[in-house]
Amino acid sequence: MLTLEQNVTDVVDLTRRPRRNRRTPAIRAVLQETHLHPNQMIAPLFVLEGNNQKETIHSMPGVHRLSIDLLIKEVQELYRLGIRAVDLFPFVPNERKDNQGTEAFRAGNLIEMSIRALKREIPEMCLMVDVALDPYTDHGHDGIVEEGQIVNDPTLIALARMSLLAAEAGADVIAPSDMMDGRVGYLRKMLDEAGFDEVGILSYCVKFASAFYGPFRDALKSAPRFGDKKTYQMNPGNCNEALLECMLDEAEGADMLMIKPALPYLDVIAKAKAQTLLPLGAYHVSGEYAMIMAASQNGWINGERAMAECLLSIKRAGADFILTYAARSMAEKIAREGGILFS
Ligand code: PBG
Repeated sequence: MLTLEQNVTDVVDLTRRPRRNRRTPAIRAVLQETHLHPNQMIAPLFVLEGNNQKETIHSMPGVHRLSIDLLIKEVQELYRLGIRAVDLFPFVPNERKDNQGTEAFRAGNLIEMSIRALKREIPEMCLMVDVALDPYTDHGHDGIVEEGQIVNDPTLIALARMSLLAAEAGADVIAPSDMMDGRVGYLRKMLDEAGFDEVGILSYCVKFASAFYGPFRDALKSAPRFGDKKTYQMNPGNCNEALLECMLDEAEGADMLMIKPALPYLDVIAKAKAQTLLPLGAYHVSGEYAMIMAASQNGWINGERAMAECLLSIKRAGADFILTYAARSMAEKIAREGGILFS
């Protein structure tokens, strides 16, 4: 019979004691394998018409729609915190929406003005612009609708016009999020022909038809008015198809790939990373953000720590960068904690 009085070394003889490597904050910091850095987080930002306008988005605590003047201040602050890229989304009032999403490529539209203002005020920030028609269409779909169908090839022309407008205004990267076939190759060709060979393409190559986009659609009032997005966004059960989408967009000339949403698809991120040498991003989408914020506001979890843990898991799965609404709060936390989280 073993008694507590007995000398434990008589019975336990361990050569491997993994806890030695966890003994102090210092050793934990030295040995941490994956890190979250501000420069690997991209902040999605919602732009609003007008001046000195700041609107809250109830389903996304801490995220606002900002008019251009306030947007400039926000981007300057993000830069100061170490964030090096933002991705812009426009809030388009209903009266500017139509079946074809023509506002998307109207010269002088909100997105063009935002890009010009940001490039003028803070040219050192990398400016990415989402390219898809859903903020601009009265039916809320990402493409042009004909007889109830989202038609692929005519949509490409609209996306190209959007991309050219963004490139002309000074965007560094265009980010097609529409999931139409062949758009990366087509946009690359159109950009090159117009002399914008330095404008990059971040392809949302794997975008699942997800329930986690709900708060984003609140933010832009862009929920589809009929049907769903399942004829273009992917079936959540499919991984091979995701890898195929990555291969196609890579072959069509994408500079960076992205998987979206992130947390429910960590396996897809890991497999996509193993298959490509391109930089791979993941979009920690609105619903993923909102869940953590809601639980945190109820006092059920520590929101900051849970957020950091989730973002770290996305990096550990293989993402090189993350689009996240928590970019600013995480960058602030990293600065507060001396540059390293978790140790
Ligand atoms: C639009 C677009 C969506 C998101 C990014 N771009 C919504 C959708 O496809 O319905 C979602 C982002 C988020 O939920 O944070 N093409």
